[in-house]
Amino acid sequence: MKNLGILLSGRGSNFEAIAHSVAAGQIPARIAVVISNREDAPGLARAWQMGLPARCIPSQGKEREAYDREVVAVLKEHGVDIVCLAGFMRILSPYFIHEFPHRILNIHPALLPAFPGTDAQKRALEYGVKYTGCTVHLVDEGVDTGPIICQAVVPVRDDDTVETLSARILEEEHRIYPEAIRLVAEDRIRLEGRRVLIQPRLPAGE
Ligand code: GRF
Repeated sequence: MKNLGILLSGRGSNFEAIAHSVAAGQIPARIAVVISNREDAPGLARAWQMGLPARCIPSQGKEREAYDREVVAVLKEHGVDIVCLAGFMRILSPYFIHEFPHRILNIHPALLPAFPGTDAQKRALEYGVKYTGCTVHLVDEGVDTGPIICQAVVPVRDDDTVETLSARILEEEHRIYPEAIRLVAEDRIRLEGRRVLIQPRLPAGE
């Protein structure tokens, strides 16, 4: 059973999707701690309501690595094995990344490497792509550049607005993020260069 640490800054709908999968026994893991860098994040309030260990570590005015050292200390205190970024609006320092090698996941609302960074749905719509989607990837030192674990494709409709497109992408996010976490929790991913290869699931008992 692996320990998950969830980092968020806002709404927390991906966190909720993960929490539901965990509660339904679909991921062999427990949520050991939820950390928000913002006191007013709705996701933080939701974690408290769910009775999960959750705390705010404010990031405002703190130097990046000093902040990350505080966060890593709390993650380690809770025995976290896998860190899930769920709308955590900060770039991690190399220090943080090296503390959890290949054990930090992020969800991005576009088909990477297209549209990294913020406002991905808006930029995809404005660019005129016919298909966009979402990506779960391992976090490396770049912005949304790490090895890709899984993706889901969402067609763009002619009458889409940023809101309607984002909503359809979000549904897919809620589906693939828990799946990707399950693969990592089951130790079923192997890296070959940038490629993440998925090992088959062993039949029960093996
Ligand atoms: C999602 O669109 C996710 O892809 C991006 O930030 C947003 C977080 O939404 N990284 P939520 O807080 O999980 O509802």
